Amino acid sequence: RKKIAVMTSGGDSPGMNAVVRAVVRTAIHMGCDAFCIYEGYEGLVKGGDLIRQMGWSEVRGYLSEGGTLIGTARCMEFYERPGRVRAAKNMVLNGIDALIICGGDGSLTGADRFRSEWPSLLEELVSTGQLTASQVKPYKHLNIVGLVGSIDNDLSGTDATIGCYSALSRICEMVDYIEATAASHSRAFVIEVMGRHCGWLALLAGVATGADFVFIPERPVSECWHEEMCAVVKRHRAFGKRKTIVIVAEGANDKDGNKITPEQIKNLLADKSEGGLALDTRITTLGHVQRGGTAVAYDRMLGTLQGVEAVKAVLEATPETETCFIAINENKIVRKPLMKAVEETKSVAKAVEEKQFDKAMSLRDTEFSD
Ligand code: F6P
Repeated sequence: RKKIAVMTSGGDSPGMNAVVRAVVRTAIHMGCDAFCIYEGYEGLVKGGDLIRQMGWSEVRGYLSEGGTLIGTARCMEFYERPGRVRAAKNMVLNGIDALIICGGDGSLTGADRFRSEWPSLLEELVSTGQLTASQVKPYKHLNIVGLVGSIDNDLSGTDATIGCYSALSRICEMVDYIEATAASHSRAFVIEVMGRHCGWLALLAGVATGADFVFIPERPVSECWHEEMCAVVKRHRAFGKRKTIVIVAEGANDKDGNKITPEQIKNLLADKSEGGLALDTRITTLGHVQRGGTAVAYDRMLGTLQGVEAVKAVLEATPETETCFIAINENKIVRKPLMKAVEETKSVAKAVEEKQFDKAMSLRDTEFSD
């Protein structure tokens, strides 16, 4: 009987609970034992009651809960070999031979490393007398499948990561609230949104709320961004707009790689000197409200369909199969090579870091249309 474990890792995202529910129930439906690893990689390293077998009814009600009910952690120990040796030992002791991980690119890279080191981890466990050769014998190959859970929508090769549409909806809802008070006072608001190195949330929130100006990392503003932004805001005010909304991604930079801060933008909008806009301006950093709360229908659907596909993928995998992750491309749930996606994602971040913005944009274009 195959034993399949699921865990969530890295920052939580809405829809992760749908993944856990789908994996547990699909595994049971397909005649396997289902396990949850609590607290991400920390649970794998520590073992004990952080690795639990799950029954069908234990994931009841998971679809409508936010965050991740099985916990997550950013675990440093797993990034060192002794941590991975302990993790391998706990897998064998629990009889687990397949692992489904829902997390961001860092968590998925860690998973692939674990898989590629697997034979040598088992060897070490035997040579150090922690396990016997007969104990490890049935676990020669480790199957791993990744699911991308992140609000940032920053992984190459998939159109949407699990959680990004919930965060986008939350941002739009918050911007709507802010707009009501902004219009009442004829004020300007600078709203900082999450996304790490990716501008997807900021850009799409700008489109969905009709913001006046948006700053994103992949398309940094020119040297004369002060004049450009002020000209746009002035024009919109001249049309009779009583509110000004500027959305800034937390990773936004100018062309020289200097961070664009909400304070800088506020100072410009509020500038009372001659020719300045002199707008009564406030800053709102949305923070973790973007990540919390229940998942929108899309993320529940995505987490469920991808969870089902992940179980099928581990059951069909052979020792020769490349580690895959489950993506959505043009509305179809598909399996794709994990490390290719991680490498492509890193090259976008690198291009932004090296200020090769046109390259970053064209890489993003390929990634989203691929
Ligand atoms: O990756 C998800 C994310 O919410 C990013 O948008 C943000 O930069 C980061 O995590 C915040 O991390 P933490 O919750 O550890 O402060």
